[in-house]
Amino acid sequence: MTSVSFTAQRDGTSSAAVVVFVGEGGQLSAGAQAVEAATGGQLGKAMKAANFTGKKGKVLEILAPSGMVANRVLLAGIGDATKADARTFEDLGGEVAAKVQTLEPEVVADFSGIADLAVGTDVAAAHFAHGLELRNWRMDTYRTKLKDEQKPKLASVVLAGAPPAAKALSERLQKVAAGVAFTKELVTEPANVIYPESFVERVKKAVEPLGVKVTVLDEKDLAKLGAGSLLGVAQGSVRPARLIAMEWNGTGNPDAVPLALVGKGVTFDTGGISLKPGPGMEDMKWDMGGAGAVAGIMVALAGRKAKARVVGVCGLVENMPDGNAQRPGDIVTSMSGQTVEILNTDAEGRLVLNDCMTWTQRTYKPKVMLDFATLTGAVIISLAHHYAGVFGNSDALWAKLDAAGKAVNDLVWRQPLSEPGGHYDQMIDSTIADMKNVSGREGGSITAAQFLQRYVDEGVEWAHIDIAGAVWRPKAGPLHDKGATGFGVRLIDQLVADHFES
Ligand code: BES
Ligand code: MN
Ligand code: ZN
Repeated sequence: MTSVSFTAQRDGTSSAAVVVFVGEGGQLSAGAQAVEAATGGQLGKAMKAANFTGKKGKVLEILAPSGMVANRVLLAGIGDATKADARTFEDLGGEVAAKVQTLEPEVVADFSGIADLAVGTDVAAAHFAHGLELRNWRMDTYRTKLKDEQKPKLASVVLAGAPPAAKALSERLQKVAAGVAFTKELVTEPANVIYPESFVERVKKAVEPLGVKVTVLDEKDLAKLGAGSLLGVAQGSVRPARLIAMEWNGTGNPDAVPLALVGKGVTFDTGGISLKPGPGMEDMKWDMGGAGAVAGIMVALAGRKAKARVVGVCGLVENMPDGNAQRPGDIVTSMSGQTVEILNTDAEGRLVLNDCMTWTQRTYKPKVMLDFATLTGAVIISLAHHYAGVFGNSDALWAKLDAAGKAVNDLVWRQPLSEPGGHYDQMIDSTIADMKNVSGREGGSITAAQFLQRYVDEGVEWAHIDIAGAVWRPKAGPLHDKGATGFGVRLIDQLVADHFES
């Protein structure tokens, strides 16, 4: 957590790193002009030397500025001020965090007098702090030999000259950041630490103090419910399966129709008997990313006391090869009663999700259901790590997700899906059971989605979000280091704020 505080005016006696803003063409904000005066013109000189013109997203660092207590001044480019928005400032906050994380305990960003700014200074300041906090996350739990200069130091950001409204907005965004951080933590932890039972314990500890009601089903409960599909995946592991349901109701109405979120929580995916190749298999600790996103969303929504009823349900299993593991050719009966011929034990995510979807619809009667899953390698082939793929039965729900994603830069791209009985749906018909769990390599993400659609009840608006690529990225971005991205938390926080809050 990064602390955020406010001050009317930047304090010249502080040694904290100073951030000031520069518009396109080198237009200095009032805060930047004050620094320019204090340093006897160092900014202009440095900008010229570095060819820095205030382009959006660029940050110029000036070390040991003369006439100042601070060790460094960072000039943050906002580009055309009339086009700068919340994301412009988020990305700059992230950029600043990446630059000074191991160098400075505190950043003071001066928002006074930014000319022609399209967005309110409250929004600019709160989102700058948000971006800084998001990018400042890292996990050092297992590094025992960090040298002093490698250790993270950045712990607080002071927003100077921001109007009072920035405070409430910033507080809300800090709750969202806590959700993102929780998702990153769950996704980053290795599979010997996070497995179904420990996932449940860690999530309970995070959400129960926020007023989230937690229900846990163990393998006996699941067997009684007929969750043969989920349990078939789990049977090759010594780690017993769990289902966790988290319920947040901020409406005051116990009967409010909930928004349902379902997450794939395969805490490690070896492929099972259809074993994956060795190289890169370590990445499969991320295969609980859907469940991680759902848990983080609950932390964010409950943390900020969203006026909505939202239930999050995660199916937690480990997919291992073993003497008791399921075989290709096995036929399982899912909770819905539909039977599945398992042709590839590595297509396990859909076998976990289907029972979770059936249970969620029976238990909570949602009208809208979203599922998050690191479901297919094929979605990384189509969209790389840049977008998550969205499949669903509702144009309206898609439009809402698209808009929310653009607003917070958790990007989604729609993919095709057939009606039941349509071309893509026929591809998973089985000759011996109701359906098979794989079709072939062609359209691999689509046939996975068709499989899930067979478990969506009549009248339920549903979207499946394949986050196999988005859950982690091989390169750092403005708001995350390489590795876990926390994808999904800000997306759904925004969706809920836009459409599900009373
Ligand atoms: N967890 C994987 C999908 C995945 C692959 C996520 C790479 C992240 C990175 C999923 O369980 C899986 O193995 N899917 C198979 C399906 C195939 C057997 C039809 C795949 O994508 O290869
Ligand atoms: Mn798999
Ligand atoms: Zn998987």
